[in-house]
Amino acid sequence: MITTGQKIAIRPSDSSRLQATDLEHVKFGRVFSDHMFVMDHANGTWSDPRIVAFENLSISPASAVLHYGQSIFEGLKAYRRNDGSVAIFRPQANIARMNRSAKRMCMPPIPEDLFMEAMAELVTQDKGWIPDGDDASLYIRPFLIASDEYIGIRPSDTYRFMIFTCPVRGYYAEPVRVQIEQEYSRAFPGGTGDAKCAGNYAAALYPAKLAQDRGVHQLLWTDATEHKYIEESGTMNIFFRIGDTLVTPETGGTILEGVTRDSIIQLARRAKLPLEVRKVSVAEVVEAARAGQLKEAFGAGTAATIAHIAQIAFNDELFELPALEERIVANRLGSELDDIRRGRAVDTFGWMVPVA
Ligand code: COI
Repeated sequence: MITTGQKIAIRPSDSSRLQATDLEHVKFGRVFSDHMFVMDHANGTWSDPRIVAFENLSISPASAVLHYGQSIFEGLKAYRRNDGSVAIFRPQANIARMNRSAKRMCMPPIPEDLFMEAMAELVTQDKGWIPDGDDASLYIRPFLIASDEYIGIRPSDTYRFMIFTCPVRGYYAEPVRVQIEQEYSRAFPGGTGDAKCAGNYAAALYPAKLAQDRGVHQLLWTDATEHKYIEESGTMNIFFRIGDTLVTPETGGTILEGVTRDSIIQLARRAKLPLEVRKVSVAEVVEAARAGQLKEAFGAGTAATIAHIAQIAFNDELFELPALEERIVANRLGSELDDIRRGRAVDTFGWMVPVA
């Protein structure tokens, strides 16, 4: 564990935008709370950790991040619980993943204690921004960028780490239509598929746009070598229920190790549901769909938690999945997760970290 004894300076904003914000109708990712955390890295050391008013950055056009994409991020959420307190869901898992991404992208790790304290302090400062309602939370977006003014190619010597938050509600307005992708790839062995780096998302935009032009919301990504195995769903991990068994692809370098994915696996194990974490072939999913055995499919990620899949397109076939009320496993595990987050169920896993 990397720790530092540094203290975070807090310089509150002199004017809050909260009163002028309609928290009832926020759109995901468009509204930002009053404060942000900033910290700089140079000469091998992090310095000047501070919470300041949310404001624009001023960076050089030659800043390394703009050219070579040394940029990683995380996404996690703080929830208001039924007793009025506020807690962050599994922050240590996101901190650990951020530092794995940093290693892969040749960036310095962030001291875990400072990272945690920064999130706790930021959420405390802006807890008034958490909207009311069962679908509402405060989305926390930590990110790390290279900041050298240099356009030669090498790892940057300097970096900036920042965190801001957004009041959010649901991510998808409706169950999603997906298509099994057989031409483009999201990740490949030895690549950056398990790092949460900006470039992964940029590279997925064009194939996703082609799919959207064909009327689907997102792609079911397959392995880059043979397009035979399913890997992810859009920006989320993927789960299927085939017959009675919940199946999800095993990670192994090309798939992001999702915190929501891991939580669903742990809840399914606790409930002793039939669960297989292994390679999932396109052929078996298509066969199951043809035979009426594909009972459920859903994406799992921080933004949406569970995104039910309504339809799966494969070549000329279109498979319609059962009605949402029949999605007994996703509905059950989704509710159990929500109950833990809201403090309606005992948090036996120790997932919630109270901050305010
Ligand atoms: C998530 O579902 O958590 C994501 O990573 C989506 C995000 C890029 C908005």
